[in-house]
Amino acid sequence: MYTRICLVFFAALASFAGAQAQTTPPKEISDLLSKYTCLACHKVDAKLVGPSYQDVAKRKYSNEKMVELIYKPVPANWPGYPPMAPMTQVPKPDALKIAAWINSLNKPAKPAAKKS
Ligand code: HEC
Repeated sequence: MYTRICLVFFAALASFAGAQAQTTPPKEISDLLSKYTCLACHKVDAKLVGPSYQDVAKRKYSNEKMVELIYKPVPANWPGYPPMAPMTQVPKPDALKIAAWINSLNKPAKPAAKKS
């Protein structure tokens, strides 16, 4: 009886940890996001000053295009938001890492099985 309750509890805990993993950036990325102050205006899964990174991911920009938008934002892309300041101080390799991570937010947790 008690063992069963424990099992259910741990299963719930594990799925919670799994859900968390998606919205918490890997340490390397969260370090970059705080270093370049992105987190002051962006959250992963909720609107802040700017759109959530999950919403940005839905736009399906290429990584290169996203880097361009970080350097030269196009406020018309996000009506209802204040314009983002150009973040030209972010070195390209770091901007690319951030862009690739933002795009990864749009992928399903488990990749769909390949069609043969
Ligand atoms: C001062 C607040 C602020 C900061 C700091 C900030 N952003 Fe933004 N960001 C915004 C706002 C507001 C928008 C939506 C309006 C716009 O694109 O101009 C936005 C939009 C974006 C977009 C979507 C661009 C598009 O056209 O779809 C990306 C990608 C982005 N930000 C990434 C970043 C990254 C990466 C950083 C850190 C290097 C950062 N932002 C820092 C406020 C900010």
